[in-house]
This record gives sequence, structure tokens and C-alpha cells, in this order.
Amino acid sequence: MRECLIRGVEEPDLPEVVRVEFWSFPYPFENEVLALLYIAWRRYFFVAECLGHVVGYVAGRPEGAWGHVVSIAVMPRWRGRGLGRALMYAVESAFRSSGMIGSYLEVAVWNRSAISLYKKIGYLIGGVLRDYYPDGSDAYVMFKRLG
Ligand SMILES: CC(C)(COP(=O)(O)OP(=O)(O)OC[C@H]1O[C@@H](n2cnc3c(N)ncnc32)[C@H](O)[C@@H]1OP(=O)(O)O)[C@@H](O)C(=O)NCCC(=O)NCCS
Repeated sequence: MRECLIRGVEEPDLPEVVRVEFWSFPYPFENEVLALLYIAWRRYFFVAECLGHVVGYVAGRPEGAWGHVVSIAVMPRWRGRGLGRALMYAVESAFRSSGMIGSYLEVAVWNRSAISLYKKIGYLIGGVLRDYYPDGSDAYVMFKRLG
């Protein structure tokens, strides 16, 4: 989208990242968790900026030879325009540059839009984690090898 760009996160973005998180999840991460991801792993933290505002983000971190996509979200009114996919490609590219062999994530089994996005860009379901979320929902673990 012409009015949007995907770029590395910067410290002043964090309040808007928190806002995206708040509007996207029933159990949002605490601000401190997002701040820690920024401090420790900003290399794997990207935002989607549209019309001067952060409307989406993805945060990853290394887990051995694999990259873990810790969280991804796009503001409701900006969904369905390719930003989620672009954010996933950005974090995968950072994982690849660090020599990681693959990328993985957890997703609630009922989260059809996210599962559809991940399948579309090459993720496979590797297993199920029972009672993974605070409300008792199960999660799929999905993974993709990065060539
Ligand atoms: C999951 C999420 C990040 C996707 O972001 P998005 O910007 O809407 O995704 P995109 O526009 O890049 O969609 C890419 C593909 O995902 C799939 N997809 C996305 N939204 C979908 C929906 N509502 N229904 C079905 N498929 C969907 C489609 O296959 C789409 O490809 P297409 O446009 O060629 O049809 C967004 O829905 C979101 O923030 N959800 C709330 C937070 C969340 O659940 N995060 C994931 C936690 S694991």
C-alpha cells in the first residue's frame, strides 16, 4: 500500500504498539513485555506505519536456531490489506539474516484469519498445545523452514 511502510521499531513507537496490542487481543501483553522485547530483540521487531501512525507490529526473538514470532497484530480497520503478510516477511527476513533455519509461532486453534495468513505464506501445523491461553484455548504450533 502506497500510504504504508514496514520499518524497524523505534522507541517513540512503543505507545502506539501498545495501542495496537490493546485493540487486537483479549489478553494483551503488558507494556513491560513489549518494552522488554524492544530492549532485547529490536532487531526482530517491526512496525507498519500508515499515514504517520503505527497500525501494526510484529515482534520476534531467537530460540536457538529458530526464530520465534512472539506476536503480530494489525489495527482492525487496517486489516485485509496485506500488512500482516508484509510484517511476517520482514521478521522472517531478519531471522534469515541471523542464520536461523526456520520460524515458528503459536496461534489459537480458533483464530481462522491468522491461521489462514500463516498457511498462505508457507507455515505448517506441527502440533497442538492444550490449554495454552489464559482462557483455556488450545494453540497450534506452526512452523516454516527458511531457505
Ligand atoms: C492476523 C492478522 C495480523 C492478519 O493481518 P492482516 O493485515 O489482516 O493480514 P493480510 O491482509 O496480510 O492477509 C494475508 C492473508 O491472510 C489471510 N487472511 C487475513 N485475514 C483473513 C480473514 N479475516 N479471513 C480469512 N483469511 C484472512 C488471507 O489468506 C490473506 O491473503 P489474501 O489477502 O491474499 O486473501 C490480523 O487479523 C490481526 O491483527 N488479528 C488480531 C491479532 C491476532 O490474532 N494476531 C495473531 C496472533 S497468533
